[in-house]
Amino acid sequence: MKAEDVKEHWESGAPTTKCETIKRLEVNAIYNAIMDIEGKVGSVLEVGCGNGENLRNLQAFIPRSFFEGYGNTRFCGMDMVEREPEFDGEFRVGNVLGISEVFDEKFDVIFTCRCLISLANHAEQMKAVGEMAECLNDGGTLIILENFTMYHTRQNHLRTLLGLKKREAPEYNVFMDDGKLIKHAKSIGLSYKSAYHFASLHDIVLYVLLPAMGIEPAYEHELVKAVTKLSLGVEETCPFGTEGQNVLLAFTKGER
Ligand SMILES: C[S@@+](CC[C@H](N)C(=O)[O-])C[C@H]1O[C@@H](n2cnc3c(N)ncnc32)[C@H](O)[C@@H]1O
Repeated sequence: MKAEDVKEHWESGAPTTKCETIKRLEVNAIYNAIMDIEGKVGSVLEVGCGNGENLRNLQAFIPRSFFEGYGNTRFCGMDMVEREPEFDGEFRVGNVLGISEVFDEKFDVIFTCRCLISLANHAEQMKAVGEMAECLNDGGTLIILENFTMYHTRQNHLRTLLGLKKREAPEYNVFMDDGKLIKHAKSIGLSYKSAYHFASLHDIVLYVLLPAMGIEPAYEHELVKAVTKLSLGVEETCPFGTEGQNVLLAFTKGER
């Protein structure tokens, strides 16, 4: 899909996820990754922030940090400004591929949540990582929460074991390669810290087991709600394996 088509897709107000439970797990994973940072986190930037939902939730739990959102559509953060006028943060419109030219200040934390998969190819994804790294303070943390091909493939393998068809990635997404991302990050001075496989059991239930029982889509199923509650309750970073297609990877710029 061409870059303009992807932008139009988000401009049209397309929902950023069909799955409310995965959104809760994503915000929780980003929160945990920020809490795992040693030292003060003064400023947090989300790149590809959509309507600002992640930032609103994070600010409720991390009130002493300053939050900023950045995204390439005119809707960037708009819902938030209208719905939550007391939200203490800012939003700017722009492309991640030029972000290092945009901000004068640097951030303690920069995160993405299913933004880089909207880029056209692997080369653009790696350029975006480099651009964001330039906007980090030394010792700052880059959090990349995206969909990765390897885990999507594993999930599809589980589906085929139960006689189900493979699920295709949406046409406006390019799923990432975690091995190549970690290698590239290292080459530009980012140290790989950890992976959070926060949605493994959730995705097995939602995309494998319930479909095998003929229930698909199953976003509202009680079992999906129960597995979300369970996943939110456990403290380990990879409690139930690595079969979830959304994974959070954390990197540090130099040593913090
Ligand atoms: C799947 S949505 C995710 C939104 C939000 N992060 C969330 O978790 O709900 C992807 C977001 O990335 C933004 N985006 C896509 N390509 C971008 C680019 N090149 N530069 C900046 N933002 C981009 C889109 O506008 C959209 O809001």
